[in-house]
Amino acid sequence: YENQDGRPSRQRLLVVANRLPVSAIRRGEDSWSLEMSAGGLVSALLGVKEFEARWIGWAGVNVPDEIGQKALTRALADKRCIPVFLDEEIVHQYYNGYCNNILWPLFHYLGLPQEDRLATTRSFQSQFAAYKKANQMFADVVNEHYEEGDVVWCHDYHLMFLPKCLKDYDSKMKVGWFLHTPFPSSEIHRTLPSRSELLRAVLAADLVGFHTYDYARHFVSACTRILGLEGTPEGVEDQGRLTRVAAFPIGIDSDRFIRGLEVPDIQKHIKELKERFAGRKVMLGVDRLDMIKGIPQKLLAFEKFLEENPTWREKVVLLQIAVPTRTDVPEYQKLTSQVHEIVGRINGRFGTLIAVPIHHLDCSLDFHALCALYAVTDVALVTSLRDGMNLVSYEFVACQDAKRGVLILSEFAGAAQSLGAGAILVNPWNITEVANSIAQALNMDSEEREKRHKHNFSHVTAHTAQEWAETFVSELNDTVVAAQLRTRQ
Ligand code: G6P
Repeated sequence: YENQDGRPSRQRLLVVANRLPVSAIRRGEDSWSLEMSAGGLVSALLGVKEFEARWIGWAGVNVPDEIGQKALTRALADKRCIPVFLDEEIVHQYYNGYCNNILWPLFHYLGLPQEDRLATTRSFQSQFAAYKKANQMFADVVNEHYEEGDVVWCHDYHLMFLPKCLKDYDSKMKVGWFLHTPFPSSEIHRTLPSRSELLRAVLAADLVGFHTYDYARHFVSACTRILGLEGTPEGVEDQGRLTRVAAFPIGIDSDRFIRGLEVPDIQKHIKELKERFAGRKVMLGVDRLDMIKGIPQKLLAFEKFLEENPTWREKVVLLQIAVPTRTDVPEYQKLTSQVHEIVGRINGRFGTLIAVPIHHLDCSLDFHALCALYAVTDVALVTSLRDGMNLVSYEFVACQDAKRGVLILSEFAGAAQSLGAGAILVNPWNITEVANSIAQALNMDSEEREKRHKHNFSHVTAHTAQEWAETFVSELNDTVVAAQLRTRQ
């Protein structure tokens, strides 16, 4: 991929996200061990051969000393990753505070924090100041590594200020920003004290992308109603400058899952799971332990199903994998206790000496174990209260070509727009409706399961993560060319 002079011939892509796709563990004063994580974004970009991607982000660890920082920077360079070092105070105010205590709940329609939640991370004002400062720190690192012609792709709600910081450095930089969460109705966004400053900062980008058409529409409405700008079919216009706004629904690397199922280790896992749960239908939930995932509501619906369907009690098991996340934020700690309490109650009520109805695990699973679980599942329950897309639903479908299990999917997940025709769509707040859907899924005949699965499987295999990344970056290149042509006219 290099020219004769050793320069890369592919377009360089600087991917900027709050978190690098690695977990770093310090082994000594100047030694680190790194493990690449295989999230959606990583697999999306691994499959794209047109660009040479570099990652810029926080390694998720506090490294106060220079020796440690230099060693980590060297180790990360091998993985094409460039670290942004954030100290503990900034992490507290920016990441735990403004990102996870304010923007995250607001964008998922859970509202702004009440005073008790705000008080835990000092005032709104100081959190917003830390947010801007952190975004500037990301911009400084991008600027240090930027070369003319690079594409800079900023990700998610952590970095809404970044497009503005980057354009302040160099107005010719090609800057895209993509939001992985929902963008809420403008009526929700307008409650945010820093609503206008944030919108203006995002609008500095050349291209702004969302998972669904609805999120894009909400963003354009926020810009027209709050900033008084003009919305056009292309995006948002401000004094003759257009920010292109569009929907780019993400996918997964479906081949990785489909091929994965052939690996002997996974086949062994599948066999063990089948033996372990022989005679019972397997229902599965895989979620980060987050308020938006609707885990308590899901458990209550399962409880109602068991109450109303005594004949199923010993014939079904719910495996709930709840991946711990953001454990320093008090709201998440409260949720963990709440979920444990409900699981305990249901297992106490309906368990027998032989079996319990819910296996709840507070952990993440490796790829092999996850594929095997997806493959043996009869019914997957994705009941998020709000979710940008939700790729668990996609991963489940990719692993179900043999079994043709049923997907119960929240209508408030972005995935409902693409998998709606194959899944049973539910309102996760309506416990009775979800309980009835569980009964419907468990009793569904094979013909209908086949029909629904085919629909979903063809979508998941056709609209992959690689296609998503390629489409976004080529649209960004085209947008910049079109803008140059407009200014020349
Ligand atoms: C969501 C966000 C991501 C984030 C992930 C994990 O999917 O959209 O940007 O990385 O959650 O959360 P964490 O706070 O652990 O990075």
